[in-house]
Amino acid sequence: MEQLLQQIESYKTEISAFEASTADAVENFRIKWLGTKGLVKAIMGEMKNVPNDRKKEFGQILNDFKLFAETKFQTLSENNSGLPTNDSELIDWSLPGDPVALGTRHPLSIVRNQIVSIFKRLGFAVAEGPEIEDDWHNFGAMNLPEDHPARDMQDTFYINQDPAWLLRTHTSSVQARVMEKQKPPIRVICPGRVYRNETISARAHCFFHQVEGLYIDENVSFADLKQTLYFFVQEMFGKDTKVRFRPSYFPFTEPSAEMDISCLICGGDGCNVCKHTGWVEILGSGMVHPKVLENFGIDPNKYTGFAFGMGVERICQLKYRVNDLRLYSQNDVRFLKQFTGAL
Ligand code: PHE
Repeated sequence: MEQLLQQIESYKTEISAFEASTADAVENFRIKWLGTKGLVKAIMGEMKNVPNDRKKEFGQILNDFKLFAETKFQTLSENNSGLPTNDSELIDWSLPGDPVALGTRHPLSIVRNQIVSIFKRLGFAVAEGPEIEDDWHNFGAMNLPEDHPARDMQDTFYINQDPAWLLRTHTSSVQARVMEKQKPPIRVICPGRVYRNETISARAHCFFHQVEGLYIDENVSFADLKQTLYFFVQEMFGKDTKVRFRPSYFPFTEPSAEMDISCLICGGDGCNVCKHTGWVEILGSGMVHPKVLENFGIDPNKYTGFAFGMGVERICQLKYRVNDLRLYSQNDVRFLKQFTGAL
């Protein structure tokens, strides 16, 4: 009998705690407790198990319980008027939605996408390759045989377990992989992350991002190189931006040139960013070295090509005036959330 008493107590707690915000919920309460198959009726049925000497006592308790449930239902029904029928009517569809905090694209992704889309419009395809490379694709094929002094230009991370493998120092390795598989005409750009063993500071990092380009066909000339890169600069930085080429050296191009643009920060008057020269360097370029073409069975007497490579961080610095390279990889949302809206 103790069990029956406990059961009644727990029902009472449940009933007291019940609240209804819709007419449907009130009706469900009635069905659950007071309906013909309801719990009140079921527990009244327990009377037959009560021993005769306690029937009077339990009859009272059960009647009180029934009354308790009925009173609750009455209160619920009285408060019922004006309640919505069901849950969907509880929603005020005219309220503004909860704002969803949108993420933003990383500035380097924004700038890389801009670079890629400009070259795509000129008919360049996008090629990608592995970040862990072998010596041949990163150096050898690019006319940098072992012991070539120019290897020192790019402080390389070698894989400890097997120094035949390294982290690519430029995405020229991807160009090598394209030439391996594809015959001219070739017109690709290779965006990707590259690694160099540099001490991390505001101006240097152990990894950064490049977009390199390669164009090989019959009769490709230095004039094509200049015009392509000039178009890129005008699209990227605006029509008023001036360019200049300076002779340079890369083992994989001959002749080679570095390209400067007029300083966007001071308009050419001289400032910190351009070190008071009015010009800032943005990329390396040149005509593909005949040796490189031969390495891939491309006849240098029939085909010529140009190649170029730029650092995405550098372009981003000029576009958005980011003056510390470390900001790109610190994941500080105060920095990142400033780059909204673009691509
Ligand atoms: N691979 C060179 C670098 O990483 C860039 C470059 C590419 C220069 C193609 C000339 C031609 O510095």
